[in-house]
Amino acid sequence: MKTIIAPSLLAADFLNLECEINKIENTSAQWLHLDVMDGAFVPNITFGFDLIKRLRPLSEKYFDVHLMIEEPGRYIKDFLEAGANGITIHLESVVEKEVIEVIKLITCDIGISIKPKTRVEDLIPYLNKVDMVLIMSVEPGFGGQEFQVEAIDKIKWLDKYREENKLNFKIQVDGGINESNFEEVKKAGCDILVAGSYLFGDEMEQKILKLGE
Ligand code: DX5
Ligand code: ZN
Repeated sequence: MKTIIAPSLLAADFLNLECEINKIENTSAQWLHLDVMDGAFVPNITFGFDLIKRLRPLSEKYFDVHLMIEEPGRYIKDFLEAGANGITIHLESVVEKEVIEVIKLITCDIGISIKPKTRVEDLIPYLNKVDMVLIMSVEPGFGGQEFQVEAIDKIKWLDKYREENKLNFKIQVDGGINESNFEEVKKAGCDILVAGSYLFGDEMEQKILKLGE
């Protein structure tokens, strides 16, 4: 499978959002990664379903919504209505006995994510119920942080697990992706690369092609 590249809107110029969306639209990236933060689950606040709904008519990309919010179950319906193609929730944002219930609310593609300090084995009960697993390679909250190499072993573990168990969830990595680490991440078994600060600025398309090579 060809690697999917998902530019993260977090790194865009928010004063010129329409222009930035058009710029991404003209690249070969298949996905647009949308980071929703609530100032509680993570120490930063970004945007919500209303903005995503406004962006929807401007883009034909796959809207990959990364929810970094507490009790995500409260808002799944709103993000579905806003036009999300995939919704990723954090394992740490839902109490254990409710994870399955929240997953069931997601009627588009389902992703589940873990922060750097969470054990990848904690995902086992959900791996046959999701379309994608997102491994965070930075503490969620901000773009422009350094890639944490521990993510590589988690990706390798997931890749092996899905092969052994004949599952077909995709593996996504998010945080600190750039030209110095993308090859190792892909070699470990990653299918989807999120990239923010590395891609925005000059030569976005060249960089997208490079990551997708
Ligand atoms: C961080 C976000 C990321 C962020 C990545 O919490 O989930 O999607 O935009 O940005 P870079 O690529 O700059 O680390
Ligand atoms: Zn993200």
